[in-house]
Amino acid sequence: MVKNVPALGWNTWNTFGTNINESLILESADILVSTGLREAGYEYIVIDDCWSLRQRDENDQLVPDPEKFPHGMKYVADYVHSKGLKFGMYSCAGFMTCGGYPASYGHEYDDAKAFASWGVDFLKYDYCFHPCTVPGHILYKRMALALQNCGRDILFSACSWGADDTKIWIKETGANMWRSTGDINDSWASIKDLATSQLRALEYNGMGCFNDMDMLVVGMNAKGNVGFVGCTPEEYKTHFALWAFLGSPLMIGCDIREMSEETLALLKNKTLLRINQDTAYRQPFFCAKLERNPEKIVPGTDYYEKYPLETPILARFLDDGTVAIGIFNLTDSEATIWSATLQLDAIGLGEDTGMTLELTDAFTGEVRKVRNGCIHFRIPKHDCKVFIGKVVPAK
Ligand code: GLA
Repeated sequence: MVKNVPALGWNTWNTFGTNINESLILESADILVSTGLREAGYEYIVIDDCWSLRQRDENDQLVPDPEKFPHGMKYVADYVHSKGLKFGMYSCAGFMTCGGYPASYGHEYDDAKAFASWGVDFLKYDYCFHPCTVPGHILYKRMALALQNCGRDILFSACSWGADDTKIWIKETGANMWRSTGDINDSWASIKDLATSQLRALEYNGMGCFNDMDMLVVGMNAKGNVGFVGCTPEEYKTHFALWAFLGSPLMIGCDIREMSEETLALLKNKTLLRINQDTAYRQPFFCAKLERNPEKIVPGTDYYEKYPLETPILARFLDDGTVAIGIFNLTDSEATIWSATLQLDAIGLGEDTGMTLELTDAFTGEVRKVRNGCIHFRIPKHDCKVFIGKVVPAK
């Protein structure tokens, strides 16, 4: 069975686009192992769009491009499996993929069978060129059912970018993750845009079907297919921390053959991965100052209207009774330091409980106990802090 936590891995699209081939996949599989990324949990190697010939064969079957993949896909899958990794591929619910290659509408059972015979463990399923006479939920159900009957466990990664109210119907299909955003590019503007949109969709993320905020741009440094302008180290740190904290699948998108030590250390951050892979998967929530006077609470206020999306202070209850806390400064204002306060009664730990938190910093490992029921932070622009808090007696 597919694991009930967000998928971790590497995907070709962000850096390589159409420029993919067998040796890139084999080398990247080797690197996932030699860098310890596999040990850290990154297990899927996913080939995105542009892997096939432009036409199906005379039996209507998809054909891997022999120039890019001279030994076919089973050979690639076998190699990936021999490294203790899992193998992912890509298709689309329309007549063509987004890159203009043949897609699976009307061929779902044949294609699912082919993917199973090649040893595929993960299928990303896009939404370009879909027939407008068939609703999105039916298109995803068609492939979901084909995969569920193909004789192999294949994680279904739906990629309809949140269009056509995907959030309402996606869980019915059995998809394990669903793209809840448009496409990312390697820039702070894109990271901020996707993150703030997801801060309004926390309740749709959940066990077994995770909000997929799109592949990571960490470490791309403006190079490759979605390279664009690049980000600063703090911005990559905040990007990774947000994706991990919010429970998104984490698909590395940089060229891992050339990544820096700093990129690798960030991708392997144990605390962030531990939060991301928490088995209880409880929804993160905003921590607001408690309003003790009920008359001041305006009935009918939109839940999210109350919270600042550019300076979210979030908590998440983990499976061992600890509490993850994340404070993110997404503002672009010239004021470089944001001073924030988190009162512990906002997470259900008022001073009258006699308890407090012992915080471990996800980036420095520093441990400190919260005094007097509140924590003060000073966070530079585009930076963040993440902690795991253990509930301990206040005195
Ligand atoms: C869409 C998807 C991307 C990528 C491309 C491939 O844009 O959202 O993630 O798969 O198609 O063409």
